[in-house]
Amino acid sequence: MHLSRHAVRGLGLVMTSLLPSLALGAPDAARQAQLENLLKQDCGSCHGLRMTGGLGPALTLEALAGKPRDSLIATVTYGRPGTAMPGWQPLLSEQDIAWLVDTLLHGYPKP
Ligand code: HEC
Repeated sequence: MHLSRHAVRGLGLVMTSLLPSLALGAPDAARQAQLENLLKQDCGSCHGLRMTGGLGPALTLEALAGKPRDSLIATVTYGRPGTAMPGWQPLLSEQDIAWLVDTLLHGYPKP
């Protein structure tokens, strides 16, 4: 079969857009345990050990209801300049941050 140059380039685009998500999936079990610890110890120091709020707002299921996943990920990644919320990009990967936000969006801590 002969692939035109156009088709080859198209295939390349598909590959590069799919590969990152395939290669860097969800954090493994050990990393998830570390992240859960971070959520309690570090995030919890401002948001409360049970995410019911403190210096930072509550991050409970109810508190986050209706907030878009993407904007929560952006907040955790870059922080909120002018507030106490730091950006976590220097410490956490994109996958780590997505896992944390998904954990919160599924309700943390589990009842
Ligand atoms: C030093 C204190 C502090 C720490 C540590 C901290 N936060 Fe925050 N966080 C805040 C504050 C304050 C806000 C509210 C910012 C504002 O007023 O917009 C906030 C906002 C947020 C929001 C947006 C909530 C909303 O309703 O839009 C999320 C999500 C969040 N933090 C997650 C985290 C996670 C996950 C961690 C740990 C990886 C973390 N925070 C660590 C202080 C903190």
